[in-house]
Amino acid sequence: MAELEYDAVVTSLRAAGCVFAEEEAEILAESASTPAQLQEMLTRRIAGEPLEHVVGWVWFCGRRIAVEPGVFVPRRRTEFLVECAAALRPSVLLDLCCGSGAIGLSVGGVMELHAADIDAAAVACARRNLDADGGAVPVGHVHGGDLYDALPPELHGRFDAIVVNAPYVPTGDIGLMPREARIHEPHIALDGGTDGAGIHRRVAVGAPEWLAPGGHLLVETSAALMHSTLQTVVEAGFAASISESEMFDAVVVIGSMGEL
Ligand SMILES: C[S@@+](CC[C@H](N)C(=O)[O-])C[C@H]1O[C@@H](n2cnc3c(N)ncnc32)[C@H](O)[C@@H]1O
Repeated sequence: MAELEYDAVVTSLRAAGCVFAEEEAEILAESASTPAQLQEMLTRRIAGEPLEHVVGWVWFCGRRIAVEPGVFVPRRRTEFLVECAAALRPSVLLDLCCGSGAIGLSVGGVMELHAADIDAAAVACARRNLDADGGAVPVGHVHGGDLYDALPPELHGRFDAIVVNAPYVPTGDIGLMPREARIHEPHIALDGGTDGAGIHRRVAVGAPEWLAPGGHLLVETSAALMHSTLQTVVEAGFAASISESEMFDAVVVIGSMGEL
């Protein structure tokens, strides 16, 4: 991009309230193949669409993950959930409420990955990401449906770990979220029910029958909700604890079918 053009893009982004105007201008320039496409992307971004939806990808755990409009944009904080899961070295992994599939794809060393989501746009996006993976995960399947109903029965008792970043925003707090999320991410990706832990309860109750002996359930949650999430996991029969990361500003509840 010519310097003058770059300056104009930065100025437009800044005027639209983008805090990281220079970085965004570079990402837009890198993603557009023609000046016309750059202009179209800039117009969408200025109108408030998330940068990741405009360019079609997000940087997550050191790789590009495709994200499409209508699909939740993986957050940097979720890299902590990936770290926690990778430390357990699961061979057969379920990424439940997978969205783009970013979490499952980022846990290294997995031999068989299953990902599931209720939303058709997320299922299509996760399939695209798994297909683009170039066989790094030897076996990968994306299933569509409500939580565990999406899975074929032969997967009962097979998972070494289930990783979950499900919706956990209390319904009444969605209106307080940044505009980009509120308007451009589907409600179903955000709404955790009245207290925020509604889906965590269902996830925890259903998990034991899908886990292999000694398997783990890992659930991303918030600082405000972590004790409720922990309680749901303990009540479902797990030995569980809370892991927090200051660096990622993230909280994960880890439940084990054996002792932790
Ligand atoms: C917060 S987003 C997280 C997506 C992805 N795990 C990530 O971290 O990028 C929550 C996801 O849960 C999915 N979801 C919501 N309710 C669900 C349900 N009952 N069964 C399966 N998936 C569900 C949404 O469609 C959305 O993709």
